Amino acid sequence: MKTLLQLNTSLFSTGGQSSQLADQFVAAWKAKNEGAAAIVRDLASNPLPHLDAERFLSFIAKPEDRTPRQRELAAESDALVDEIKKADVVVLGLPMYNFGIPSTLKAYFDHIARAGITFQYTANGPVGLLTGKKVYVFAARGGLYAGTPLDSQTAYVRDFLAFLGISDVEFVYAEGLNMGEPSKQTALASARERLEQLAA
Ligand SMILES: Cc1cc2nc3c(=O)[nH]c(=O)nc-3n(C[C@H](O)[C@H](O)[C@H](O)COP(=O)(O)O)c2cc1C
Repeated sequence: MKTLLQLNTSLFSTGGQSSQLADQFVAAWKAKNEGAAAIVRDLASNPLPHLDAERFLSFIAKPEDRTPRQRELAAESDALVDEIKKADVVVLGLPMYNFGIPSTLKAYFDHIARAGITFQYTANGPVGLLTGKKVYVFAARGGLYAGTPLDSQTAYVRDFLAFLGISDVEFVYAEGLNMGEPSKQTALASARERLEQLAA
C-alpha cells in the first residue's frame, strides 16, 4: 500500500493557494491510488521550533549518551524522520514569503537533516538516505519568478531534497497571484490542469 505525506506551509493553513493546489492534487492522486494512506502535516498550524544548540546537540549525541531532555528532543526529530521515511510520495504546498520559503518549512528541514540517519558523509561526499520517493511541489507566488535568478525557492528545495537522497521532484507553479484577478485565475487554472495530468 502506498503512503503519501502532504506538508502544508501556508500561513492560511487549508485556505492558502498552495494548500488548495496540494489538496486538489492529493484528491486526484487518491482517486487513482485506491486504499493508499495519506497523512497531512500542517507546519503553519503546528510549527516546529527553530533549531538551536540544545536541539542540534541532542540530534548528534549518541543515543546511549543522551540526557532525558536530549532524548525528548531527539524523539521529536526521529518521529518526523520516520514519517517521511514511510512516504512513497511527498506533496509540498510552498508559498513564497519575503523572497524565501516559509520559516516553518526551514524548521522542518532542520529537523529531518540528520547525519547518519537521512544523509551520511562518505569519502566521495554526502549521500542521501531517503531514497525511492517522488515529491510534488505546489509553489504559489504573488509575483513572477520561475526561471529567473529571483526564484530563491526552486534550486534550494531541489538541492536540499537531493542532499537527503530525493531527486525526483516535480514543481507546479501558480505565479502572478497578486497581479490582478485575470492573472490569478489564469495561473490557478493552469496549475490545476497540470496537477490533474500529474496525478493521472
Ligand atoms: C508575508 C507574505 C510575504 C510575501 N512575500 C512574497 C514575495 O516575496 N514574493 C511574492 O511573489 N509573493 C509574496 N507574497 C504573496 C504570496 O506568495 C501569495 O499570496 C501566495 O498565494 C502565498 O501562498 P499561500 O496562498 O499558499 O499562502 C507574500 C505574501 C505574504 C502573506
